[in-house]
Amino acid sequence: MDSPQAKILVVDDNAENRALARATLEDEGYSVLLAATGESGIRLFEEQRPDCLLLDVRMPGTDGFAVCARVRALPGGEHTPVVFLTALRDVETFDRALKAGGDDFLTKPVRPAELVIRVRAALKLRRMSAELAEHYALVRQQRDDLMRLTLQKERLTSFVVHDLKSPVNTLDLYAQLLLEDRTLPERARTSVRHIRDEVRSLLRLVLNLLDISKSEEGQLTPARADVDLAALVEEIREAFVMRAKSAGLGLRLEVGAGRVMADEDLLRRVLENLVDNALRHSPEGSAIILCSVQREGAVEIRVADGGPGIEPDARERVFERFVQLEHEPTVKRRGGRGLGLAFCKLAVEAHGGRIWIEDGRPGAVFCLRLPA
Ligand SMILES: Nc1ncnc2c1ncn2[C@@H]1O[C@H](COP(=O)(O)OP(=O)(O)OP(=O)(O)O)[C@@H](O)[C@H]1O
Ligand SMILES: [Mg+2]
Repeated sequence: MDSPQAKILVVDDNAENRALARATLEDEGYSVLLAATGESGIRLFEEQRPDCLLLDVRMPGTDGFAVCARVRALPGGEHTPVVFLTALRDVETFDRALKAGGDDFLTKPVRPAELVIRVRAALKLRRMSAELAEHYALVRQQRDDLMRLTLQKERLTSFVVHDLKSPVNTLDLYAQLLLEDRTLPERARTSVRHIRDEVRSLLRLVLNLLDISKSEEGQLTPARADVDLAALVEEIREAFVMRAKSAGLGLRLEVGAGRVMADEDLLRRVLENLVDNALRHSPEGSAIILCSVQREGAVEIRVADGGPGIEPDARERVFERFVQLEHEPTVKRRGGRGLGLAFCKLAVEAHGGRIWIEDGRPGAVFCLRLPA
């Protein structure tokens, strides 16, 4: 508050000095309070809450250092700028002034112009530190609010995901039961198959989300077991054969007998995500090929399609969550969220493996390698 209304308290036992300070500061438009002793200075400080304190060091009774220390201990007193005035020009006095909590130090005889400059600087410093404290408090508040929101959002996500998982599973189960009913007319069976496809796609999304958040909490640990790849791939074929057929796509699975130590559920869902993507991006009449090879003590699985492929500069980026690329408008997009590949990468890496994209000319080839 470096306004003309700023209140300056001058504590000095010398009447001449007090008069000089008053005349100089009032000329500048400050309002000036005077005290002739340390004790009356402290009282005035408490009553009037000045914006700046000018303190003579040597006074009978309570001296300037003692006044400063006591003012600093008063509520609000820790931020008021204190300028010491002294005839003593030695380092010890200077050090003591700083130690007592002084902001500035002026030696007598005080030149009026200098007094004004120092007071102005002290007030400015105080204003700036008050603003800084205010900004700091604001930033802190915003950080706390953000943190609270993030935590709430995380909790909400995990509620939604957990609560969706079981009803969606139940839907899938009932659809499966319906399909086993041989008396159901073919048209109804086709509808049920479509329902099942959609339910699986929803389940895939929910499980992707669940595992991504698990991984964020460091809890995506694969439960490894001996997996029969041919049997696993057969399950995948069953899950997608209808969709491929109705989209006019071929589904070729070229997996010989092979085994890998992996979390069967995670691996199945990785492959489901890759095949689902391939189906979504393939043009009618093309084929999706899934093959696996054993190489240097590792198992490599490839999912290739005849779609638009993925440009080299996007081949890392697509594995980040919520990343979806712009393809030609001919590609039909079914409500995906850009989470599938993020999940695949986390799941493969949790196995100590690696996932990457190669050029299929045309199309994309998603490759993953798992240590055997
Ligand atoms: N086989 C592919 N051919 C061409 N582009 C693909 C292929 N697979 C993925 N992409 C591109 O990578 C993006 C990210 O794929 P990702 O599986 O992570 O998300 P999504 O399929 O869009 O949605 P979600 O999997 O969450 O349902 C896709 O939006 C698409 O642009
Ligand atoms: Mg996907």
